[in-house]
Amino acid sequence: MRASCEAARAVRRSSMPLAYFLHSAGPAAAPVRLLGWALAALCVGVCIAIAVLLVLAMRRPGSRVARARTGEHAVVDNTGDRDAHRIVAIGTAISTVLLLGALVAMLRVLAAVADPPRAAALSVRVTAYDWWWKVTYTTPSGARFATANEIHLPTGEPVQIDLDSADVIHAFWVPALAGKTQAIPGQVNHQWLEADHPGVWRGQCTQFCGAQHAHMALEVVAQTPGDFAHWLDVQSRPAAPPANAAAHHGEQIFAAQCAACHTVRGTRADGAQAPDLTHLASRRLIAAGTLANTSANRLDWVAHAQRIKPGSLMPDVVLTPADAHDLSAWLDTLQ
Ligand code: HEC
Repeated sequence: MRASCEAARAVRRSSMPLAYFLHSAGPAAAPVRLLGWALAALCVGVCIAIAVLLVLAMRRPGSRVARARTGEHAVVDNTGDRDAHRIVAIGTAISTVLLLGALVAMLRVLAAVADPPRAAALSVRVTAYDWWWKVTYTTPSGARFATANEIHLPTGEPVQIDLDSADVIHAFWVPALAGKTQAIPGQVNHQWLEADHPGVWRGQCTQFCGAQHAHMALEVVAQTPGDFAHWLDVQSRPAAPPANAAAHHGEQIFAAQCAACHTVRGTRADGAQAPDLTHLASRRLIAAGTLANTSANRLDWVAHAQRIKPGSLMPDVVLTPADAHDLSAWLDTLQ
């Protein structure tokens, strides 16, 4: 258990730059980041101005604070009332102008990020599940395949995300690439992502959706168009047949214990309620960003899913050490 938690923390440390939501890596996120900084600067400026005015008012000769300090008594004098009204009017006017300016800036940013600069050549279907993401691609030749928790994009190309949910309301947010969009059962919402350069960015469900909401992350991997085309080609293929006796036995264990929920294309396993594992070993993380994708973590997950992600819809599967070894040998081949 401690090892799993440590591994999960290490994943978070390694894949997330500090304050990763303050960075942008594409045209759908850059205007939002600039607006965020501008509004933060405005708020800080307003706080400082209010603090300075407050101190000046307290130190003004004749103010209640100044009188308390000198022991002076109040003098009834109404000549300050007109000044006070003027100051309130000026303050209201300045606030109104600043707030209207902020409103205009926000509407302009919303308009700027609403649609991609040119039509998206690729659209990807992302379906949110308690507590993972199914990602479905259609290849240029029309073939469809699914993967999980990892979205690959070609750099410099707007990609449309068609977003829905299989159960409750979730929300999709990859801060470095775009704003948030809700994933609602029975409705398809649209968003677009574009990455300026190759890299890996973390995304997260941002609508509380149950016990494992915090462990419902994903990664966006941006690749050069050539690398992306290669990735698409490899991922669209079925799994390679088992290469040795241990892997062959592993495939049989999978068919008996796991196939009701998981699909591995090219085998009899065609369950629809869980991540497609056809190219499991090629992914960076498992369990929606919770663990690094190593052989040891995969086996730990199979045996202790309920300890690593309590309440998740993957049961703990009890296997003999020999069966666990063979299953692992097969999972390792799902490149
Ligand atoms: C009752 C359905 C069910 C069964 C049976 C099941 N799983 Fe899962 N599995 C899931 C669900 C649901 C998830 C997603 C859990 C999450 O991330 O919250 C999952 C996730 C996984 C993952 C992580 C995939 C990823 O990309 O994040 C692996 C690996 C995995 N299961 C392997 C297995 C193996 C091996 C077996 C059989 C020994 C098995 N599962 C049996 C439902 C099941």
